[in-house]
Amino acid sequence: MLENQLLLRLAEQYGTPLYVYDLDLVTARYRDLFEFIPDPGLEIRYAMKANYNVALLRHFNAIGCGLDTVSPAEVLLALKLGFPPERIIYTANNLTDAEVALVRETGVLMNLGSLSRLEKFARAYPGSRICLRFNPDVCDGDNERTMTAGALTKFGLLFDDLAAVLAIVRRHRLRVVGLHEHTGSGLQRVESVFQSMCNLMAIATPGNFPDLEFLDFGGGFKVPYRPDEARVDYRSMGTEIARLFADFCRGYGRPLKILFEPGKYLVAECGVLLTRVNTLKHNRQREIAGCDSGFPQLIRPVLYGAYHQVDNLSNPEGPRRCYDVCGNICETGDRFAEQRELPEIREGDLLAIRNAGAYCYAMGGVYNLRPMPTEVVVQEGRARLARRGFSHRELAERILELSETEPGDGTGKA
Ligand code: LLP
Repeated sequence: MLENQLLLRLAEQYGTPLYVYDLDLVTARYRDLFEFIPDPGLEIRYAMKANYNVALLRHFNAIGCGLDTVSPAEVLLALKLGFPPERIIYTANNLTDAEVALVRETGVLMNLGSLSRLEKFARAYPGSRICLRFNPDVCDGDNERTMTAGALTKFGLLFDDLAAVLAIVRRHRLRVVGLHEHTGSGLQRVESVFQSMCNLMAIATPGNFPDLEFLDFGGGFKVPYRPDEARVDYRSMGTEIARLFADFCRGYGRPLKILFEPGKYLVAECGVLLTRVNTLKHNRQREIAGCDSGFPQLIRPVLYGAYHQVDNLSNPEGPRRCYDVCGNICETGDRFAEQRELPEIREGDLLAIRNAGAYCYAMGGVYNLRPMPTEVVVQEGRARLARRGFSHRELAERILELSETEPGDGTGKA
């Protein structure tokens, strides 16, 4: 855990708003998965969409973790950072032919999730090694928009289409080396993990897929966001996962690798967004604490109604009051927390928004032309700058530069 004193000091040193990530916690989360899931074939592929901070990615590479990628630029960045292609999986979603070609050239394994793309891929690249993503038909997730299975999702091949899938695979001699499913993010019930595994394992027979090297059961392991939320007992969940998979491998006839690709579990709790309150306002019933960050820098509360714990680091013992913690963006909905009880906030106080390591900076943008915050990583008690945020002046200049470097060329392509 990052100590409050350290966070106060970093806010002074680097200014606010500021993202801080604890790399030691990331290592601990990565290692505990190996302890909890006692299968010798376990491999973890961090879902880099959760946070693409380069220092964090280098750290994952150093500790031996692989990556789950979802765009050509993610693949290219991962390779530039030295991740070996065989430790990367590319989960395709509504790709263009050009994107497929680009990723394929890198040697990274493609994970295809639609009949249409599978057919086009098979024709273009017969005989290739591929992974197939199936919709596991289990609905779970921390909110409707992060459930990736069931009838309403765009992801994955349907089990109903298995015969059509096998026909394409056989016609074009594809080598299906992996099967994949991802149920959703922030899974609320451990049974969902088991059920999705069983549904995928049911079609993973040597008769259907004789070339399998692994099964990939996606991410979705939840972590507590609310102070009163219990932590899932991952030890007993992991034991059951290992048991189910060992049974499956016995039936399949040889041991396969088992992959998971968590994002939140590995990085959510390692991050904090520090923001300073600059304006207090009493608005009839509401006490409004206005701070120097806003929803484009941490959008989860606005987009999903997600709860993020807020701590007043500079007045932790103050009498508790109720606040709307608002940002600096010109929208009424720009709130990190609504009607939240917090130790009294004074102008100048430093707030920490917790669990800001996953899907926070990564989903950020510069709406209202506010530069994204600087990012700092802490490792073995030492902090270092990971990525400097633009100043207001730099952001304005950068936009001009990007807009006017190639006048007349409206293609928008590099
Ligand atoms: N694998 C696949 C194929 C995925 O689509 C995802 C997340 C993951 C793994 C990692 O899931 P995780 O372990 O992080 O739950 N922006 C949302 C979450 C979207 C997740 C998208 N896919 C949020 O902030 O809650």
